[in-house]
Amino acid sequence: MILARIRARAYRFACLAALLTLSGIAPRVLVAASMAPSFPSNFIWGVATAAHQTEGGNTQNDWWEWEQQCHLPRCETSGIATDSYHRYDEDLALTQELGLGAFRLSVEWSRLEPTAGKYSAAEFAHYRNVLQAARARGLKIVLTLQHFTLPLWIAHHAPQGANSWLDPALPRLFERFTEKVVGELGAYVDYWITVNEPNVNILTSYAVGVTPPGVQNLKKAPIALAGFLKAHALAYHAIHRALPGAKVGFAHHMRVFDPYRSYNPLDQLAVGVLHEFWNHQFLRAIQTGRIHFQVGTVFNHREDYPLARGTLDFIGVNYYTRDLIKRDISTPQGFVIQPNKKALKSDMGWEIYPFGMYRVLMDLKPYKLPVLIAENGLADAADSMRARFICDHLREVRRAMKAGVRVLGYLHWSIIDNFEWISGRGPRFGLAEIDYTTLERRLRPSAYVYSRIAREGNLDVCAR
Ligand code: GCO
Repeated sequence: MILARIRARAYRFACLAALLTLSGIAPRVLVAASMAPSFPSNFIWGVATAAHQTEGGNTQNDWWEWEQQCHLPRCETSGIATDSYHRYDEDLALTQELGLGAFRLSVEWSRLEPTAGKYSAAEFAHYRNVLQAARARGLKIVLTLQHFTLPLWIAHHAPQGANSWLDPALPRLFERFTEKVVGELGAYVDYWITVNEPNVNILTSYAVGVTPPGVQNLKKAPIALAGFLKAHALAYHAIHRALPGAKVGFAHHMRVFDPYRSYNPLDQLAVGVLHEFWNHQFLRAIQTGRIHFQVGTVFNHREDYPLARGTLDFIGVNYYTRDLIKRDISTPQGFVIQPNKKALKSDMGWEIYPFGMYRVLMDLKPYKLPVLIAENGLADAADSMRARFICDHLREVRRAMKAGVRVLGYLHWSIIDNFEWISGRGPRFGLAEIDYTTLERRLRPSAYVYSRIAREGNLDVCAR
């Protein structure tokens, strides 16, 4: 009797399955279920910020001075930025509300050490409050020690021409600062990021000269980059001396370069040189302890720095876009970046290229290190592209993970709109929108999509 019932049920199920298969529904259901990319339960979901872009009132650093000198369009200044120095708990609360588990922020060196060797107990107490508040909201802390700004006393430490990252004293000063931060705040930190985007910093500050200290010198730029490398290495050791189990990396800005004319060997050659320099030379110097920064003949620096060897526990990756490269010998650098006319672009005019996420992650596979996506996002004031952007990029992250890249987590840039360096307040990168008059924060619809992804640990919401 029971057997007969089971057989009848099995028959009905088989008929139903056959029907679904014929109608084409079953394959779709099965495919959707098997392809729904899911992330490991310990995957870190979070957001990223930086002190000068959010805190406001950072009057003692080189960026502030640069802004006062009217280098930005319409003499815009960071001013009180998003006033996160006072409203940090609102930003943390939004992050918690979204169900995220990590918050990346930077400490502002010029606040903590306003004059050489003299630390501010009040500012350390401030950051302790911030980190405790983040912890209380269940957030892991990713702490950046240097995100583009330098205290004025360092910027003015050496004579013009050897200032900031060209100052041979800087790496040791950074090591001393790091030791102090580790002693005071180390107990709260889950992941350390020593320096942010050395390649971007030397490009804009020492080659093109559009950010402080405004140097335009292709011969010196790689020396500044070597300064970053040494500072990173010394900070790495300083952190590990105090906290042997610490996880320390740096935030590496990676880009995809493709030839503008895919068939043109000169474009391809330029792409190869750029890719090698931008994406790999710094990492390789850390891996080997041998510095060899070179693009063409003028930008060329070699030096052995064995202390740097192996100073990475993870690689922090900031990925945003790709560039199409066209060889052009009439320019000093020998190439130009051409816009991709067919591509969808963010408000910054950056191509939205999710496949690039997969490509940069796969590029990192040979380093055999875990990767933390320390920044990814877009300027999108209308919030019409952000949700898709997040979904599409995360799909590529998942694909790279399946292909063997160990990705620890994803930090979206950013939780709130903020001061975008040379572009000021215009670009809107936030999951939350800021009203710059009232400083009120309001989550955008895309924030809830990211929230669903993080809570559910998969991309099912992207298909809806
Ligand atoms: C950078 C920085 C961030 C930016 C973000 C958007 O990449 O320049 O790390 O400070 O604001 O990347 O451009």
